Amino acid sequence: MAGPVSRRAILRGATLTAIGTSVARPVRAESATDEPPRAASSSAVAIASANGLRTVSKAYNLTVRRRYRPASAAVQGVALVEADPNDVTVGYGGLPNEAGVVQLDAACMDGPTHNAGSVAAIEDIMHPAQVAELVMDRTDHVHLVGPGARQFAIDHGFPPVNLLTDRARQRWLAWRAQRRNDDRLAPLTDDPSAETDHRAPTRPWGTIHCSVVSPQGDVGCCTTTSGLAFKIPGRIGDSPLIGAGLYCDNEVGSAGATGRGEAAILGGAGWLVIERMRQGASPVQACVYTLRRIAEQSRRAASWQPALWDVDRPAYSLTLYAVRKDGSYGAATMRGRPGETKFAICDHRGARLEAATVVFPTA
Ligand code: GLY
Repeated sequence: MAGPVSRRAILRGATLTAIGTSVARPVRAESATDEPPRAASSSAVAIASANGLRTVSKAYNLTVRRRYRPASAAVQGVALVEADPNDVTVGYGGLPNEAGVVQLDAACMDGPTHNAGSVAAIEDIMHPAQVAELVMDRTDHVHLVGPGARQFAIDHGFPPVNLLTDRARQRWLAWRAQRRNDDRLAPLTDDPSAETDHRAPTRPWGTIHCSVVSPQGDVGCCTTTSGLAFKIPGRIGDSPLIGAGLYCDNEVGSAGATGRGEAAILGGAGWLVIERMRQGASPVQACVYTLRRIAEQSRRAASWQPALWDVDRPAYSLTLYAVRKDGSYGAATMRGRPGETKFAICDHRGARLEAATVVFPTA
């Protein structure tokens, strides 16, 4: 019978042999064996959003040369971006919420054990993806949020740090002075004279997603973000939600999302991409199908939230990334000029940026 004890037993047997106990570097996923590194395999691949060029290189090398499980390779790969103060959409240096506080969301998922961990609205922790991995490996839960997630991280040796850089603080002050984008919607009313001040979804929803296939064909993934800039405190996006901002199934592949989290949540984006691939779609076909479904949902939602819709297409950005366990890969984006939205990929040919397929091309 499934339950906490049997689940932990499974973890010990299948996964924790590859996990260390260091608190200085809380997640280690090197193999416990001394087998030599395997040669690069044609099925091994790492995909990420365009801000993850270094991420895919690191993740690919960790899974191919050091035999990290794919989830751990992804978590270690995105750590480069989480620690980068120049990426204002992820980790340290991320733009804060409307109160000026940086709140981070992250999750990871492991194909072989079909297990996942996530943290949401966590404060003061530079590497939320690593905390999510600990939630996956060291608890019987999937999600930890807010102060509980922060305390869990500190208990496991993550030092609390100030994540708000001067640059991010200045951008928050500039936003606060104008305050053009308020996430609160006016109450529904039949009064035609009532103001309908719907916010324009013009703020970026940057994030990093990374999916990895190992040389053995196992899959895993990770998504980490500071979320929507100047969001309402406590708002969480799709990134920490399994089935939305990421999902994997070891029989099929792995997928994730960046962009407007609310659309990815409402469309079950990560899960749907995997299910389409299970039915035989290629990664690109599965991403395009899912974006079209989400676009149709937004068209209906625009009847009460017009800012979601731009004449004949969604008004927001959303990009999906997918890999199959055979190493095929692809990405698609909701709107934009062809060639404009890139994704990062690393396989036996090396790391590079490629163009995502555009569902609603603009001139
Ligand atoms: N996709 C990131 C977010 O919406 O928070």
